Amino acid sequence: MTTTSTVEQVIRGRRATRAFRSDAVPAETIEAIFDLARNAPSNSNTQPWRVEVVSGAARERVADALVAAHEAGRRTVDFPYREDIFEPVHQQRRRAWGAEFYGALGVGRGDTDTIADLDRRSLRFYEAPHVAFLFAPDSGDPRLTADVGMYAQTLLLAMTAYGIASCPQALLSFYADTVRETLGVTGGKLLFGVAFGYADPTATVNTVVASREPLAGTTRFHTL
Ligand SMILES: Cc1cc2nc3c(=O)[nH]c(=O)nc-3n(C[C@H](O)[C@H](O)[C@H](O)COP(=O)(O)O)c2cc1C
Repeated sequence: MTTTSTVEQVIRGRRATRAFRSDAVPAETIEAIFDLARNAPSNSNTQPWRVEVVSGAARERVADALVAAHEAGRRTVDFPYREDIFEPVHQQRRRAWGAEFYGALGVGRGDTDTIADLDRRSLRFYEAPHVAFLFAPDSGDPRLTADVGMYAQTLLLAMTAYGIASCPQALLSFYADTVRETLGVTGGKLLFGVAFGYADPTATVNTVVASREPLAGTTRFHTL
């Protein structure tokens, strides 16, 4: 197999996974993945990401604290998340994705119990045995934060290359103080968390495939 087709397989093979097996990923594999991910590019090689990788008893503590914060309505968000950050075209894609996702699961708008259950499972990292929290610098500067995004995708692809499934989760960033307090993290702005582990191949939720805009919908080629 050529390098190109291997890379293509990794890029196409990564999917947001929302149901995991309970078995842990070996520590050496986790270390190899994070060691690979730190090769991500960044502005002037500043590498402005801070990463907290959480497993075992610490994972249980964070999951319990997140569920408690959610139930108490204690939201603390470092990067404000408002409806008006989305342009109409983004809103349209978001709605299409929601219809695709909930449609595949057979969940209707009024099915609040199923949606609440999904939210709760989401706060427990969809039962993944591991989660990584990605922090941007305190300034929250967009350029430095974009570097954390570069790191994040490198991390997700490194995981895929090692056969590890993942789900980036913005929802986890809605409880930034809870994450910081539980892990003893001082400083940094929480961008999102990444649940990871082995995918549960029997789960219907893992069969959902998110469609993409055709190339011309986002990309123009200028030649003249
Ligand atoms: C920054 C970011 C935040 C996300 N937050 C969530 C989340 O909170 N919960 C969730 O289930 N999926 C989340 N996702 C996954 C997206 O829904 C998913 O990437 C998108 O629908 C495309 O599907 P794919 O990753 O399977 O290709 C997030 C993805 C990104 C990149």
